[in-house]
Amino acid sequence: MTPLRVALAGCGAVGSAFLDIVDERNRQGLDRPIDVVRVLVRDPARDRGVPLPGDRFTDDVDAFLDTPAEVVVEAVGGIEPMLTVARRSLDRGRDWVTANKALVAEHGPDLALLARRSGAGFGTEATVAAGVPVVSTIRHALADTGIGAIRGILNGTTNYMISALEGGQPWEAALHDARAKGFAEADPSRDLEGLDAADKIRVLAWLAFGIDPAALIVDRRPVPVAPRSLLDDAARRGCALRQVAEVRRVAGRLQAVVAPTFVPAGSALHGTRFEHNLVEIDTRQAGLLRFSGPGAGGRATASALLADLLRRHPAPEDRGLEAPRSTRGAWRWAVGFDG
Ligand code: HSE
Repeated sequence: MTPLRVALAGCGAVGSAFLDIVDERNRQGLDRPIDVVRVLVRDPARDRGVPLPGDRFTDDVDAFLDTPAEVVVEAVGGIEPMLTVARRSLDRGRDWVTANKALVAEHGPDLALLARRSGAGFGTEATVAAGVPVVSTIRHALADTGIGAIRGILNGTTNYMISALEGGQPWEAALHDARAKGFAEADPSRDLEGLDAADKIRVLAWLAFGIDPAALIVDRRPVPVAPRSLLDDAARRGCALRQVAEVRRVAGRLQAVVAPTFVPAGSALHGTRFEHNLVEIDTRQAGLLRFSGPGAGGRATASALLADLLRRHPAPEDRGLEAPRSTRGAWRWAVGFDG
């Protein structure tokens, strides 16, 4: 079977996990193989211990864009130079699948329009809550449910650090762990000050309400450094501290906030710990919906990138959702059971 050619931008925690997952999948030999033909990085000479020959790495954007590939997967982050690379790539009709929430929060609608004009795909599942499929759910499954509000815990690093502090770990050690586990941003103040969660709530607001995410004003309040006294205060009131992000319709307008919040014991927000994310969606027609799971980390995020990629380029036997031939396969197909 002809391999699907992918160009990957970035080889940090997410990019290298993507290469590992692709390698494992190719070794299983079940579906169309994925060939990562080029990787854009700052330092091509560095040994990253990933399953890909060193000559596939480049720091040359033009060479990266000129490499024939059906899809570009982006795991770099930040606005530039990725905005320019995304535009040039989409202009050529190449699919763009990204984990870059800052880019989508600022330029999502423009890039989606560019993709539509050139017939390319634009996949953003990995921008919010990593492998928890909230982006495609809001985009494709909740269109007519009358979404009134979206709230949740959207930053794994801050939640991880608060949980670690609740367990008695010092704040600095928790930050060290969050970095080592690949949860934190390159600049972790984006996590703690709510910038990362603000980008994510703007992405969700775009998808749910059709607004320009860059124009949404988010009332953002940072989690204080080592918030021991806040944790104690929350516990005295039968609550826990969480960084909560929310966007809701109020009198025909949208209000958005990211702030350290006391959440009551027994609530789903209270039960969301460490790097897990929670997304609650209030809908008029379908009621309150909840999605939760690991919201940060290389593998969890890379799995969302792969999901976007395969949604756009399904294995031939998946096209049109034909039932597989074997009885066991048909059972799996019928109930969506993965066992
Ligand atoms: N720094 C982000 C977080 C990574 O901790 O949630 C996932 O977007």
